[in-house]
Amino acid sequence: MTTNTPLRVALSGLGTVGGGVIRLLDANRDLITRRAGRGIEVVAVSARDRSKDRGIDLTRFDWVDDTRELASHPQADVVVELIGGSDGPALTLARSTLAAGKGFVTANKAMLAHHGLELASAAEAAGVPLKFEAAVAGGIPVIKGLREGAAANAIGRVYGILNGTCNFILSKMEAEGRDFAEVLAEAQALGYAEADPSFDIDGVDAAHKLSILASIAFGTRPAFADVAATGVRHVIAADIAEAAALGYKVRLVGVAESGANGLFQRVHPHLVPIDHPLAHVTGSLNAVVAEGNFVGRLFFQGAGAGEGPTASAVVADLIDIARGEFGPPYAMPAASLTAEPKAESGERRARAYLRFTVEDKVGVLAEIAAAMRDAGVSIESLIQRGVAADGSVIVAIVTHEGPERSVAHALEKLRGSQSLAGQPLWMPILG
Ligand code: HSE
Repeated sequence: MTTNTPLRVALSGLGTVGGGVIRLLDANRDLITRRAGRGIEVVAVSARDRSKDRGIDLTRFDWVDDTRELASHPQADVVVELIGGSDGPALTLARSTLAAGKGFVTANKAMLAHHGLELASAAEAAGVPLKFEAAVAGGIPVIKGLREGAAANAIGRVYGILNGTCNFILSKMEAEGRDFAEVLAEAQALGYAEADPSFDIDGVDAAHKLSILASIAFGTRPAFADVAATGVRHVIAADIAEAAALGYKVRLVGVAESGANGLFQRVHPHLVPIDHPLAHVTGSLNAVVAEGNFVGRLFFQGAGAGEGPTASAVVADLIDIARGEFGPPYAMPAASLTAEPKAESGERRARAYLRFTVEDKVGVLAEIAAAMRDAGVSIESLIQRGVAADGSVIVAIVTHEGPERSVAHALEKLRGSQSLAGQPLWMPILG
């Protein structure tokens, strides 16, 4: 290919992001051509519904009914996949595109979480690019930041807010004192939520993204199955109010650490100290922190979803490909990625927030305190607040730093207690 030959793109999926990619390439055509050293042209498209009005003139592209045929499209150098789903047509298209010796760009974090190693190996064997900036934290160039900008560093920990829907929900609950279910309905109406909302609110989407980040940050094989994921369904308005009284915000944080005990990956609601940058990430924004041994703490923040930001990430990948700039998808050859054992959470030491909904009766606090004492958990502070309409009382406890195992043990001792009016909630405090 000469530098003057445009990079020709086949686009699978014309939803919000697909439409955004076409609009962005049209709007910034000259700038992109100058930056890439050549044009980037969509030549073929495929989507479910040909007749849908997307506000884009599609007659200039070759329409392909069966998306799988894009892999062998004679005019295309690269396929962009924006249809989603870990398996099915997206995976078929990825495999056949790479096998056909074409580059592949995707925003599909679920597919990468499940099949990233296989696809990276296939891309490397074929000597073609596999790029996925849009798969993690939407428009934030965090994949590029870790793969390239921070490539000289050993990274010990990467963590962040990786799901805009949950962050939107928690921020709204915080600002308006509202409860979870009501705010979820609003997030869905605004179109933030994944097709399966449980992927967002149960932490699965964040876990997909965390497993990709961990692999790039640490040089370990993607290990989605080892991510412990808990979402935000059980956070109540009172938790957010108590956290605020104690100097914290509640955020759904994905944390990955690589150490002597192996690879630790967890998505869980956390208490984040008010002076930590993640406490100031509000609404549907995402943010990622990476700690490198020479660069120190890096903080990336921006829009984690939406037409413009996600299209920005997809087209950035296309510009790299047009320039001929691509390396191994996970920053080192797939064969060099190490398989680390899963580090168990019980070994970790942290301060923790515990919330109990209890009946207002004699001895309840003593029972909770005794369970903590017997499990060796030291209480730093305790708040008990008024009686709700149903007669229950909220007891919020912050523990001193100690093994997570001990807190789990205390909660186990209280399981089934007649004093508890509901399931206790445990949230680690981000340290
Ligand atoms: N549903 C995702 C989120 C956006 O809420 O962050 C795409 O990854």
